[in-house]
Amino acid sequence: MQIKKMTSLVLAAMISLSLAACGSSQTTAATSGQTSQQEVNAQSADSSGAKNAESAQDEGKAEVQQTEAAAKNESSVGKNILILYFSADNTRDVDVISSATPMADGTSSVEWIANIIHENVGGDLIPIIPSEDYPLEYDALADYAKKERDDGGRPAFEDLGVDPASYDLVFVGYPIWWYEMPMIMDTFFDTYDFSGVTIIPFNTHAGSSDGGTYSDIRELESNATVLDGLAVRGEDVGKDSTKEAVLSWLQGLDLE
Ligand SMILES: Cc1cc2nc3c(=O)[nH]c(=O)nc-3n(C[C@H](O)[C@H](O)[C@H](O)COP(=O)(O)O)c2cc1C
Repeated sequence: MQIKKMTSLVLAAMISLSLAACGSSQTTAATSGQTSQQEVNAQSADSSGAKNAESAQDEGKAEVQQTEAAAKNESSVGKNILILYFSADNTRDVDVISSATPMADGTSSVEWIANIIHENVGGDLIPIIPSEDYPLEYDALADYAKKERDDGGRPAFEDLGVDPASYDLVFVGYPIWWYEMPMIMDTFFDTYDFSGVTIIPFNTHAGSSDGGTYSDIRELESNATVLDGLAVRGEDVGKDSTKEAVLSWLQGLDLE
C-alpha cells in the first residue's frame, strides 16, 4: 500500500512537471469554487444570528434528506440523476488498480469525486468500463492513450445497463488525457443524444484544469444544457479541503 502511494506521488510529480507549461497559469475550479464560497460566506456574515441559526437548521435538514435519498438511490432534488465516470482504473476485474491513477480511499481520483457527488445528491452511480482494459502502468498507458488520440480512436465500452439520455441530470466524470477527454468519452458522446438533458461534467487533471473539455462537450451535445463543471487536481483527492470544494460546487449548482 505504501509503495502504491509512493508510486502515485512520483507519477503525480512527473506529470505535474511535464505539464507545467500548460497548467501553470490555470486555477482549478475546485480552488475557485472555494473562493466564491468564501465570498458567499462573507456576505452572509451580515445576516442576523436568527437567520443564520434558521439556515443552519435548514442545511442540517437538507443534509439528512440528501443522505436518505442517496441511501435509497433516489435523487435529492426530485429529478432523475445519473452519475457516470470513466477512469483507466475501471475494468471488469474489480481488484485491478492502475499505477497511473492517483488514488484516495482505495478509488481512482475520478471515482473519489463521483462517490462524493453520489453521497450528496443520490441517483444512479455507474462506471464507464472499457471493453478492452487500458494498460495499468503509467508509461504504457501514456503511449497507448496518445496513439488512441492521434488515431482518433473510438474505444468501445461495456453496456451501461441504463439509457443515460433518459435521465434529467447526468454528471459525467473523466480524467484529462493528453490535454483532452479520453477518446472513450468521445465514443460515449457519439453514442447518445442528450437533447433536453442537463450534463454536469467533472474531471481530474495534473495541471490542464478542464482542458477546454466542457466546451468540447457543448459542441458534441449541442441540444443539451452543459453546466460549468468541476476540475480537480488528482493530487488533491482525499483531502478534506477538496471534499469541501466538491460540496460547495454542488451547492452552487441549480439542480432543482
Ligand atoms: C495517459 C495520461 C495522460 C494524461 N494527460 C494529462 C494532461 O494532458 N493534462 C493533465 O493535466 N493531466 C494529465 N494526466 C493526469 C491525469 O489527468 C490525472 O492523473 C488524473 O487524476 C487521473 O484520473 P484517474 O485517477 O481517474 O485515473 C494524464 C494521465 C494519463 C494517465
